[in-house]
Amino acid sequence: MPASEVMDIRDLKPVFTQEQIATRVRELASEIDGVYGDEPLVVVCVLKGAAIFFSDLIRNLHNKNLELDFVRLSSYGRESTSSKHVIFNKDVEIDICDKHVLIVEDIVDSGHSMCFLLGQFAARRVRSLRLATLVDKGERREMDVALDFVGFTLKKGFIVGYGLDYDERYRSLPGIYEITPE
Ligand code: PRP
Repeated sequence: MPASEVMDIRDLKPVFTQEQIATRVRELASEIDGVYGDEPLVVVCVLKGAAIFFSDLIRNLHNKNLELDFVRLSSYGRESTSSKHVIFNKDVEIDICDKHVLIVEDIVDSGHSMCFLLGQFAARRVRSLRLATLVDKGERREMDVALDFVGFTLKKGFIVGYGLDYDERYRSLPGIYEITPE
């Protein structure tokens, strides 16, 4: 379908429902609490796609020593296919040197975005660095990225909703759906 054409939600193929996501996010938060307890932790949201996952995840964490920050990466542009070129539009504002850092991402696909960000953060001598992703999609993986917390594993398909977009559309859908890009 052309990017300019917005499909009705009833015509999209459901992949993960709002309820499935909510359950999995609570489970992930519990896993993360199990690792960090109340250790000071900087949780970094990768804008824009992870915004909704991040906001749900942090509200399920019990850690009393959280700091929140944001980076903005972009790689796809208007295309639905991956690009090796990652643009680092916005950096964190907190000094993460010597801190535990958890990156929160919506989807790891080719792995280029996270390979880039992990490299950037590792160079800042953080105390520890882990990665939580809502979706691990192996279809186009090109870079070996260690995923510490994974919500769902998906073999293939272009998905939208719950923060994920197709040409900036569909991010606000409460569930995740498969779409067939043009
Ligand atoms: C998407 C997605 C991930 C990245 C994953 O972001 O949100 O950050 O691509 O792809 P990769 O593993 O192949 O690098 P995008 O660049 O589309 O920006 P967005 O988060 O603003 O949607």
